[in-house]
Amino acid sequence: MKSDMKIVIIGAGVAGLSIGWRLRQAGAEVTILERAQPASGATWASAGMIALAAELETSPPVEVDFARQSNALWPGFAREIEEESGQAVGYERSGALLLSDDAVAMAGRAAADTDLTFLTAEEVRARWPMLSGEYSGGLWARHEAHVDNRALGRALAIAFLKAGGVLKPAEAAVNLEYRGRRITGVLTPFTRYHGNAVLLAAGAWSGQVVQLPVTPIKGEMIALTPPPDAEFDFGGPVVWGQGVYLVPRGGRLLVGATVEKAGFDTSLSDGAVRHLRQKAEAVISGLARWRLDEHWAGLRPGTPDGLPLLGPSHEQGLFIASGQYRNGILFAPAIAQLMADMIRGRAEPIDAFDPRRFPGAKP
Ligand code: GLY
Repeated sequence: MKSDMKIVIIGAGVAGLSIGWRLRQAGAEVTILERAQPASGATWASAGMIALAAELETSPPVEVDFARQSNALWPGFAREIEEESGQAVGYERSGALLLSDDAVAMAGRAAADTDLTFLTAEEVRARWPMLSGEYSGGLWARHEAHVDNRALGRALAIAFLKAGGVLKPAEAAVNLEYRGRRITGVLTPFTRYHGNAVLLAAGAWSGQVVQLPVTPIKGEMIALTPPPDAEFDFGGPVVWGQGVYLVPRGGRLLVGATVEKAGFDTSLSDGAVRHLRQKAEAVISGLARWRLDEHWAGLRPGTPDGLPLLGPSHEQGLFIASGQYRNGILFAPAIAQLMADMIRGRAEPIDAFDPRRFPGAKP
């Protein structure tokens, strides 16, 4: 398919891949440049949660609305990726349980939000007897979900390639190419790529390509496996305790996550393992006997106001899809739709997410 719309995308994480896939479906020629391997950054390191109640409790309505739209798009998005790629992505609308000691606050939130149900400690114990009972109840968020983020990354890359997209792993953007004041392409160590538009979707690394207020926020996570004699039937919900979340996946329990400003450092610390284990043990009885199966770290793309950067930049021809912070997986289908439409001139940016709300580089 020959097209007069040529797009170069920097970054093959969940955002770059899904926007690229949508643009390719709309007939654009799309090349994605990835400094490392596809979906090997925050997409790989995350827990794949599609979490609204816990992640967006203090967010402005515009972000909550965007999250709700994206959550509604998720089942169809997952199905389409699976059909196109031939790979399962493990999407599960499992619900989420938010444990807390503040029964009054929980009851208040449930009264204000029909998506949430307040459960007393007894109701929580009756449904999930393995929970330790150290909390005075929980909020049940039945519309929440999780996806196997590592399978998702692989499947998205396959879907993009099958749709005719071009993917260049291990090829970093080292500079942008200008004609006058307009960006017309990207330079890599090997060659140059021309495009009618360039999209920067490089996660925590976005601020290394152009001046952008994106800060890496490190998160360490662990995965635990049960001892052979343990009975572990969680029924699948994501469980949030005090400063910790637990995600059952493939016979393991993912436990996350630390939150730390440490530049681009992704080293692993024993202290993080102790911290996460201690927090998890306060949620599920008997976890002390579980074996540490994996320990990893990733970098979230943070912004000064905690809101994403989605839309045109101060530079002509350059679009941004970054700053998703803790919500890259949740937002993926809505970002793919919005950004593909925007780059094709069919949608306007959402003011609160417009990257131009921050000043650009000094000329
Ligand atoms: N959304 C989970 C995290 O960022 O740790």
